[in-house]
Amino acid sequence: MYTLIYKSQFCSGISLIDVDNIHMISQAKNREYQITGCLYFTIPYVIQILQGKQECVMRLYNNINKDRRHHSVSLLMSEDYPTQLFPRWSMRKVRIHNEETYLRFIHIFEGRFTSNLISDLVAISFDNPNW
Ligand SMILES: Cc1cc2nc3c(=O)[nH]c(=O)nc-3n(C[C@H](O)[C@H](O)[C@H](O)COP(=O)(O)O)c2cc1C
Repeated sequence: MYTLIYKSQFCSGISLIDVDNIHMISQAKNREYQITGCLYFTIPYVIQILQGKQECVMRLYNNINKDRRHHSVSLLMSEDYPTQLFPRWSMRKVRIHNEETYLRFIHIFEGRFTSNLISDLVAISFDNPNW
């Protein structure tokens, strides 16, 4: 499954309600294009996983890249990956909720992995009470 992961930073002034709105639209649109994934964030930091058909994922990424609600968009991974990581979510949202998880998230954001990008991110999703 084609898998793209990027990081970015929300622009100043973005609120939790704005992120909820982005998330709601993402869920609806991703379902239409059979994209699944996860949006990890703690304002202002964002890491998003997108999985689906390569053409759909690339089109979406180009769209997201131009979105003026965030900046410093930087690609972390873009390749085939054998597993669909979030089969039940067109876009899962994981808000980093405690200090320990925050530190782990920032390590990933800065490219300091304990094992590798995907396993470290998936481990953070297990921490989340909404799992
Ligand atoms: C951090 C971030 C993540 C986003 N993730 C998605 C997403 O997963 N799916 C999606 O359709 N739009 C996502 N968007 C919103 C798109 O950039 C875009 O506004 C939306 O797809 C509507 O596009 P349209 O106006 O061309 O229909 C995201 C925006 C931001 C800032």
